[in-house]
Amino acid sequence: MIILNSKKALCDYRNSLEKKGARVGFVPTMGFLHEGHLSLVRIAKENADAAIVSIFVNPTQFAPNEDLEKYPRDIHRDITLLEEVYCDALYMPSNEDIYPAGFQTYVDVNEISKYFEGESRPTHFRGVSTVVSILFNQIRPHFSVFGQKDAQQARLIQQMVKDLSMNIDVIVAPIVREKNGLAMSSRNKYLTIKEREDASIIYRTLLEGAELIKQGWDNAPEICQILINHMKGAEGAKPEYIKIVDQVNFSETGKLQKGSNYIILAACRFGFTRLIDNLIVEN
Ligand code: PAF
Repeated sequence: MIILNSKKALCDYRNSLEKKGARVGFVPTMGFLHEGHLSLVRIAKENADAAIVSIFVNPTQFAPNEDLEKYPRDIHRDITLLEEVYCDALYMPSNEDIYPAGFQTYVDVNEISKYFEGESRPTHFRGVSTVVSILFNQIRPHFSVFGQKDAQQARLIQQMVKDLSMNIDVIVAPIVREKNGLAMSSRNKYLTIKEREDASIIYRTLLEGAELIKQGWDNAPEICQILINHMKGAEGAKPEYIKIVDQVNFSETGKLQKGSNYIILAACRFGFTRLIDNLIVEN
């Protein structure tokens, strides 16, 4: 695997790929990789001549109260894992490579960024769409792979690519789960062994929601209330929200329609750790 430590190194590598007419797949990450990330890299490998992964802990998507410095990092382990899945190149830009002195341009996907995750983290998505568009411009991939785990983020990137006529396919890859159903996430590291077990309630609650919909329940707020109550009764769980959104436009729905697909979104705290998860339901 080639390690690209600067924008200049990336630029030279990308130009060499261009000359070969290579198809480039890109997976943006903030490092501290787990099986969920590796599943995205495998998809990139399957569909590209060259799979590039970036590791950049992006300051603009952290609020002042969220500790950027404490974000978990283990670059040696990340490199080993990426080599095991035959990643072609790892791009690790400096802060200056992404946000040079005098930087003042931000990308804001207005509507999608307002709700759900955007409510508790108001500046988060602006940081995500900005850094991803900078990385897209630097890497110039043919396609990029995002995880369904961060459903709102994936939808936001799809919207950005469409609105800004970026000629990049966005592939959304399925969630990878632990044996107990807990969605893989870098944040799981913060959970105690007990919290990790308790947190399996999130997936069980999502499955219960899917079951209610399958049985014909169609009042979304009512279903969400049942699911919130279910979660509240579970040990250690402090649910923040459960919402049902339309899979296409990511907006909240009242009455569920037959033939439409929905996503049940959940955010829940266990101790100091805030987790999100979701489940796509075909109605
Ligand atoms: O999902 C993440 O890890 C980040 O939000 C991303 C897409 C790498 C942008 O910093």
